[in-house]
This record gives sequence, structure tokens and C-alpha cells, in this order.
Amino acid sequence: MTEPFLAVRGLAKTYGSVTAVEQVTLDIAQGEFVTFLGPSGSGKSTTLYVIAGFQDPSAGDVLLNGKSMLHVPPNERNIGMVFQRYTLFPHLSVADNVAFPLRVRRRSRADIDAKVKAMLKLVRLDAYADRMPAQLSGGQQQRVALARALAYDPPILLMDEPLAALDKKLREEIQYEIKRVHLETGVTILYVTHDQEEALRLSDRIALFNHGRIEQLGSGRDLYEEPANRFVASFIGHSNFISAMFVRGSGKDHTVRLPDGTLLPAFSSEVRSDDDAVAVMIRPDAFALSHADSSSEMASIAVTVKNATYLGDVVQLTTSTPWGEDLDVRLRPETTMLPQLGDALRLRVNCNNLRIFSQR
Ligand SMILES: Nc1ncnc2c1ncn2[C@@H]1O[C@H](COP(=O)(O)OP(=O)(O)OP(=O)(O)O)[C@@H](O)[C@H]1O
Ligand SMILES: [Mg+2]
Repeated sequence: MTEPFLAVRGLAKTYGSVTAVEQVTLDIAQGEFVTFLGPSGSGKSTTLYVIAGFQDPSAGDVLLNGKSMLHVPPNERNIGMVFQRYTLFPHLSVADNVAFPLRVRRRSRADIDAKVKAMLKLVRLDAYADRMPAQLSGGQQQRVALARALAYDPPILLMDEPLAALDKKLREEIQYEIKRVHLETGVTILYVTHDQEEALRLSDRIALFNHGRIEQLGSGRDLYEEPANRFVASFIGHSNFISAMFVRGSGKDHTVRLPDGTLLPAFSSEVRSDDDAVAVMIRPDAFALSHADSSSEMASIAVTVKNATYLGDVVQLTTSTPWGEDLDVRLRPETTMLPQLGDALRLRVNCNNLRIFSQR
């Protein structure tokens, strides 16, 4: 088997009694864009800093092309880094900021000039070469930081929430720039964010962190459609978790019985016993209105509308089940009716993506 490009093996980092990271293992292919997503304090930055060499791990290893990097000092690891806050040198012009890593590496003047020009063109700031950082917007400063990090062609680029300080519009604009730069240069990117939409937009794969561990590693679609556990299901997208009883089927296909007796087919790789209490995950967009004549359909739930908000492309409802649990629902607006507060509705359930998890 060929060695992975970048491998993180059994990584752990403790600070006194605080465990920041434990048992983090992942392989990253050359040219991949992998995002670390997860709640605050879940170990994303710590993992990134260990890979960059700014922190030593308490256990585990980081290998590049099969060779441990632990004894390689950060400046010799050839890893580019872009941080959340702008880290440009304030007393250097844009061009001199980008030239800095090349000067440190004693490249020739002609090489430096050519590279600075090419990098500023890459981030579409060729007209700003002589400006000082203070004369740039936040987004422009982050683009200069990106150009500087890429100037010496590092094979790996690490980015720790580089867009967190920017407003939504600027953030989306630079997400697009980062994606374009990734495609044009083929650099391997490890990217940290809190923002799941950003993660879904940018990444080939997402590592979802929680309490210092990776709960699931996969494409955005894998995490959304095949969540490995309840944490993943509740973190990625929005989910309802309804109390139910397990009815054992065959293979991974089982049935759940809702408190009013409704039976729904659902999926679980874990086998349980009949009548075990479980939570069944239903995404808000798994519902459609069922019309009166179809009340005999098996997969439908009777609810009462508690709140209805019209959002143009969808109608967002909070509904209540007969046994008192809330169910969030997103419906395509139908021309015939808009549900009103207090309406009794029957919701058909698209059972393709129902998942069974432990109660809590
Ligand atoms: N130098 C340190 N000393 C002690 N504890 C630390 C130190 N650095 C990080 N931690 C702890 O380690 C855990 C993981 O921190 P880390 O910065 O990796 O989280 P994060 O996922 O990047 O969070 P955020 O999204 O808030 O940036 C946290 O509980 C944090 O308080
Ligand atoms: Mg962090």
C-alpha cells in the first residue's frame, strides 16, 4: 500500500489535566481540501498547531510521505499558515509582505519579483502592491495573507478560521477565492471553521470534532446523510429526534413505533432488542403535506401547527405531536393552502433518511 501524503496517527495533546485532543487519526491525500469542523474547544486548532509544529503532541505522530515530522522545526516543515486575525507586517507594503518568506529563503531578486507578481495576481490584488496593510479592507488583508502563505509553494497550507473576522458577504467572496486558488495550485489544505455552511462549500472531506476527537470523517454528504452518531446528526443540518420504540427487522432495516402507534421504517447499523427506547432522527425537509383522502398511508404523522413562518422558498413550521413533542418541519409552499396556527395537519414522512440513535 502506498503511504498517505499526510498522516496523523493517534494524536493526543494534554495541558495539565485538560485533554485538548485524544486519539485523532486521519490520512490526507495530496491536493485534498479537508476541513476541521466542530464546536468551540473541541481541539481543532490544537490539532492544526501540532501538524504545523507549533505544539508538541503528548502522544502520536504526524507523518509526511511516511516520515515523521515531529523533530522537524516549524520553519523547516514547509507548511504555509493563515490565521484568523490578520498577521501581515504593518510596516511592510503588500508586495513586501508577500516577498517576505522568499527573502528569508534567499531567493534571487528576479525570482522574488516574478513570484510576488504572480501571487498578487492569483488573489486578484495586482493593483494593490504598493499599499500598506492599514489601507486595505479585512478581506483584502486576508487575501494578502493567503498570497504570502503560498508564495514559496508550500505543499500544505493550514488555515485557522481565516474568515471569522469578516462579514458574511466578504466571507463568501473569499471562500470562492480560496476554492479557486486551491483548484489552480493543487495545494493540500487543512482548514478550520465553526461554520458548517463554509465547511460544506469548501471541503472535499470534513472531520467533525467533538471533545478532542473526530466523531466522523467524510464528505459533507456522508455526514448529512449517513451520520455516524447523534452528535453528528444534530451538528450537521437540523434534525428532529423523536422518542420511539425499536422493532427489530433484518440487516440494517428496522422499524420504529412512535408513541401513538405509528410505524416508520428506519435505518440503524446497531442491533437492539424489541421495545428498546430509541430516538429516531427526522430531518425537517423529510415531510410533505398529506391530503385528507390519504390518511390510511402508513408513514404519516398527525400534528398541530404551533408556529408557521413563510420564507419564500419554504414554509417553516413548528408543530406538536399528539404526545407532546415538537417537530420542526420545512415544506415547499403549496398554492392551495398555507398552514395556520392551530391547524391539524397530517404529514407524510419520506422514510429514506430516517436514522435510529440511542435516546441520549
Ligand atoms: N495552552 C493551553 N493551555 C491549556 N488549555 C488549552 C490550551 N490551548 C487549548 N487548551 C484547551 O484545549 C481544548 C481545545 O482547544 P482548541 O483551541 O484546540 O479548540 P478549538 O476547537 O480550536 O476551539 P475554537 O473553535 O474555540 O477555536 C480547549 O478546552 C482549550 O481550553
Ligand atoms: Mg480554534
